[in-house]
Amino acid sequence: MRASLRILALCAVFVSAEDGLAGWLRYAPIPDDTILQQGLESLPSVIVSLNSSRVSPVYTAAKELQAGILGVVGENLNVSYETTASEQSSSLIVGTAAAFNDNYGTQVDVSKFAPDGFLLRVKKGSVTIVGQNERGALYGAFEYLSRIARGDFAEVELLSNPDAPIRWVNHWDNLDGSIERGYAGLSIFFGNGLVLPDLTRVAQYARLLASIKINAIVPNNVNANANTLNATNIEGLGRIADVLRPWGIQLGLSLNFASPQLLGGLNTFDPLEPAVISWWSEKTAELYKRVPDLAGFLVKANSEGQPGPLTYNRTLADGANLFAKAVQPYGGIVLFRAFVYNHHADWNVWTNDRANAAVEFFNHLDGKFLDNVVVQIKYGAIDFQVREPANPLFANIPETSKAIELQITQEYLGQQSHFVYIPPLWKEILDFDFRDESKTSLVRDIVAGRRYNNSLGGYAGVVNVGTNTSWLGHHLAMSNLYAYGLLAWDPTLSAEDILDDWTRLTFGFDPDVLKTVSDISLATWPAYEDYSGNLGIQTLTDILYTHFGPNPASQDNNGWGQWTRATQTHIGMDRTVRNGTGNAGQYPHEVAAAFENIETTPDNLILWFHHVPYTHRLKSGKTVIQHFYDAHYDGAQTAQTFPVRWEALRNKIDVQRFEEVLFRLTYQAGHAIVWRDSINNFYHNLSRIDDEHGRVGNHPHRIEAERFNLKGYSLVKADPVETASNFTAVAITAADGRGEAVIKLDDVVSGTYDVAFAYYDVIGGRARYSAFLNEQPLLEWIGNLEDKLGHAFSNKIDGHSATRVTVKKVEIQKGDEIKIVGVKDGVETAALDYVAIVPPGELD
Ligand code: GCU
Repeated sequence: MRASLRILALCAVFVSAEDGLAGWLRYAPIPDDTILQQGLESLPSVIVSLNSSRVSPVYTAAKELQAGILGVVGENLNVSYETTASEQSSSLIVGTAAAFNDNYGTQVDVSKFAPDGFLLRVKKGSVTIVGQNERGALYGAFEYLSRIARGDFAEVELLSNPDAPIRWVNHWDNLDGSIERGYAGLSIFFGNGLVLPDLTRVAQYARLLASIKINAIVPNNVNANANTLNATNIEGLGRIADVLRPWGIQLGLSLNFASPQLLGGLNTFDPLEPAVISWWSEKTAELYKRVPDLAGFLVKANSEGQPGPLTYNRTLADGANLFAKAVQPYGGIVLFRAFVYNHHADWNVWTNDRANAAVEFFNHLDGKFLDNVVVQIKYGAIDFQVREPANPLFANIPETSKAIELQITQEYLGQQSHFVYIPPLWKEILDFDFRDESKTSLVRDIVAGRRYNNSLGGYAGVVNVGTNTSWLGHHLAMSNLYAYGLLAWDPTLSAEDILDDWTRLTFGFDPDVLKTVSDISLATWPAYEDYSGNLGIQTLTDILYTHFGPNPASQDNNGWGQWTRATQTHIGMDRTVRNGTGNAGQYPHEVAAAFENIETTPDNLILWFHHVPYTHRLKSGKTVIQHFYDAHYDGAQTAQTFPVRWEALRNKIDVQRFEEVLFRLTYQAGHAIVWRDSINNFYHNLSRIDDEHGRVGNHPHRIEAERFNLKGYSLVKADPVETASNFTAVAITAADGRGEAVIKLDDVVSGTYDVAFAYYDVIGGRARYSAFLNEQPLLEWIGNLEDKLGHAFSNKIDGHSATRVTVKKVEIQKGDEIKIVGVKDGVETAALDYVAIVPPGELD
């Protein structure tokens, strides 16, 4: 019986496609017989569920335990809802502490539990999983399953409590099904102005989130549509809440501050106006009638054009408290975002600074928020950049409960077409010590409410899962979501350990897979920072368009306030009190003093706090400009290793996930070169300071497209110009939409080369390219990254659309001819930048 079930379970895993949908909850069979044997020996014979109601997370836990044990060790245990004391040995009991003590005598000391906490006891063939509440019992079940799925059947007595009560995810999904900053398909929640009729994916998602101890989801965009609250949608939201409830997850909602006017037909949304107050209290009552366990509201007010209380000269606290009063009778809370700033700021004013805004808007309101308000603060003072110091607001409003907003969505970090494992960045922020009043004041202690004795606090993670089966558009990016949940529960965990567990659960036990995923993942953030924006200058992506590719000039001379203040001689924001925006002075005095002084500011934040000449020497001994050049070369070089390392795992990972990851890592390696060259060319052009190593602007292995014999192609500028090699590209302008570019390789020494084609893949067309070597087909490709990456970047020839394909190991003789035939499609003009003939192992 045991054997046959195991074979069945194995078959089930092999036939079910590994498309990523199961995430880290695959429950794959233990591949090692010795470990399996231990597992079988330690296994109880029955699962006892202390709750038989289908909507109870305890019931869910028992079902999940049954499925997980079947998958991992091939044993199909029965679930019993009968509880007799004699069943305790050789049973796996799951329930709340109250139910457990009722049934088995007072054995569990409930005083040790925090809300949502759990006890997991594994002891010689019996397993006890007891939650402080039903949700806690489910978390305990997932903890046990995670252990056995990683081959860990050891005895354990683990009492686990969350570090903070708020462990939410925020989605930026729109009612029409689009997702703001979404890169993995359409919304799993909404479409056509309504909640989707089929919420199967929501249930699958809730299961993933429950396993990482997330306790609430806000499905709709912070740029909220007032129609979210119409009667039809409230019913739909009720259906979402019904799907979440068995997973112990509550629904929260983003609100549009002007809803009383936009939806309610009032002529005002003034938060102190009695008609507005009653509109909100009636709407809240209507919501709680359908969703009695609604977690509360999330509010973006007076930010980036959103309505808010300042319109009526009311304070942000007046705005937050309006909602706090409305949800207070139901036990709800309000997450009020601190992301408030003037996006029409005057860049000519030296002392203006968007990074100052949060403290300026919120400081004087400390103590004025009701108890059920939590101010939700982005980790840095600007906007999810590749490196920012911790947001000073964390240490400025001691009387106010605070949550940290992290972004699992890689908005400024390559949008899941590049992979960046973000937890090391989050950890750096969470471990940052403000030294308030010269006492240890870690961000993680502040948001847990410990440092300043706040009653609430925690974590909000912005996630952009979509209908793509990989959820996030990149299988490896799921480690970010996994790690977010684990860190929100216990921020002292290490980013490395979390990653190892995730990899084991996601890809199995092969030591090569574990090592490769770990090495690649941990190299990603440093590499991305190296090939994007260094020394605290921000990501240097195009902030006026899609936040994806390079465009350093876009940072400056506009009201958005992500300024670098780059001139021909200097770069960096002067945020000192002495001579700049005063931002350094928003930190408690020890930290303020460190950031005020260039000598004590760490190199990696030097340009965040100081305006310096490009020739300023860093503590490393390099000049700022040489650091830029070197970092960009190093980072792009590291990115080249990602697909090579991954390729070595072929046959160790199922085909679909292997190929999809390989495609993306290869794309990332190519686009890292686009980044490297764009940024280096921009600052080289601006500063006129040469690279000490002579690399910048000097690419001997390249043949620029403008040097080819062109038919049907004409010279064009990319926008910005530095996103084309030699500042020039070519695009088809011929009326028949065909073009030809031919070159004789008279300067090449005969040998074996990798041949790279740099081109532009814009959205809105799928141009065709055919490359020939001496009239023999070498490579054909289509400009269809929008389909292959599931992510549309740009409709222009720029740093977003710039990309490359490479053919490896091509035999080339001096005098050979390369020809590229392009066929334009719609707005996609089969544009080309250069061809690189590169000796293997080198980079052009
Ligand atoms: C960023 C992002 C916006 C988002 C905003 C926010 O600016 O680009 O899309 O709405 O943050 O967090 O509110």
